[in-house]
Amino acid sequence: MSCVSRALIPPRWPTDRVRLLRAAFRRKILAPRLLYETPAQSRKWLAVHRRWSPAAAARGRRLYRAAFRGIARAAPRAVRVISLGCGSGAKDRDLLEALRHRGVHAAYCPCDVSPSLVGKAAAACRRAALGGCRPLVADLAAPLAPAAFARRLNRLPFPRTPRIVLFLGMLPNFDPSRARRILRAVLRRGDLLVVSANLLPPGKLAERRVMTQYDNRETRAWLLELPRALGWPAHAETLSFRWGRASERRGPRRIEVRYRAAKHPPRLIFFSNRHTRTQLRAFVRALGARAPRLLTTTAGDEGVAWGNVRARGAARRRPSERLSRAAREALKLSIKARRRRASARSEPFRRA
Ligand SMILES: C[S@@+](CC[C@H](N)C(=O)[O-])C[C@H]1O[C@@H](n2cnc3c(N)ncnc32)[C@H](O)[C@@H]1O
Repeated sequence: MSCVSRALIPPRWPTDRVRLLRAAFRRKILAPRLLYETPAQSRKWLAVHRRWSPAAAARGRRLYRAAFRGIARAAPRAVRVISLGCGSGAKDRDLLEALRHRGVHAAYCPCDVSPSLVGKAAAACRRAALGGCRPLVADLAAPLAPAAFARRLNRLPFPRTPRIVLFLGMLPNFDPSRARRILRAVLRRGDLLVVSANLLPPGKLAERRVMTQYDNRETRAWLLELPRALGWPAHAETLSFRWGRASERRGPRRIEVRYRAAKHPPRLIFFSNRHTRTQLRAFVRALGARAPRLLTTTAGDEGVAWGNVRARGAARRRPSERLSRAAREALKLSIKARRRRASARSEPFRRA
């Protein structure tokens, strides 16, 4: 089993990192990968995740375990699990364990821009991935990277193995249109697509609660690694947090963090989209997964949606362009009926 990290589209690090960071700071928005690449950044991000992410809390872990059990129950006897932006691989390991428990032979392909996180994920999942481990380091936001990654996947042994494509916790970091572009380049018809995200529960109070998950000591320490690397002022007051909205029409609301220091124009250093349940489901459906399943925590602050990609070509068009008016009405009615049936059942998580 090979667990050596291989750089597919090598991140331009560390040789010209300072030059790259200076250039990035001149742009309005910083590329998210710049916040994760170095070992110190990935360590500090993991500290934020452990302390503040709903996914890492007990309710989040229960949610993922329930979703993964459902996925494992329906899985064929052998699969390839492809994790885009694998992070530490903790969630991937839970899925691989659930698959192993059902006797499913799973090969694992973790991919991330951070070499140290790819290494962690490969090490964490080695035991559970009965079919071996093929880690890849790639900047998926680079224009040609997702297509190159897809070609690399197709060249692996047994290319027809059914695939589970994970996009866990990635939606907050990417503009929805960019996230769709990455996934469209990688997805094949028949793949099981699994997308998860921190959600924004309804209500003003929820906004205040969500803000505390960002405006805190751990998050500031993580984000300030970047100006510190440039020798710029890096104290807590240089960062300001507020709610904004993704550029896309009817896009998710997002937390925005700006860096402000003397002699430096303010810059958007970080954003985190907080989709609603409806937006998360619509995202998965727009990628060709019909009738996706959706589970959320009872607090409504974390969601996992999954579905089989049925129509890759059709997924490029909006559902409204594909259905006649009568068909849309019929669909709405059947969705309402399904929701009524689901809420009548008593379940630990909300299902849509
Ligand atoms: C919020 S974390 C999610 C990690 C993991 N999937 C989870 O759910 O715990 C986002 C991950 O995306 C990775 N990432 C950010 N930008 C990336 C890029 N351009 N290409 C590949 N990975 C990227 C980061 O290194 C980080 O591991």
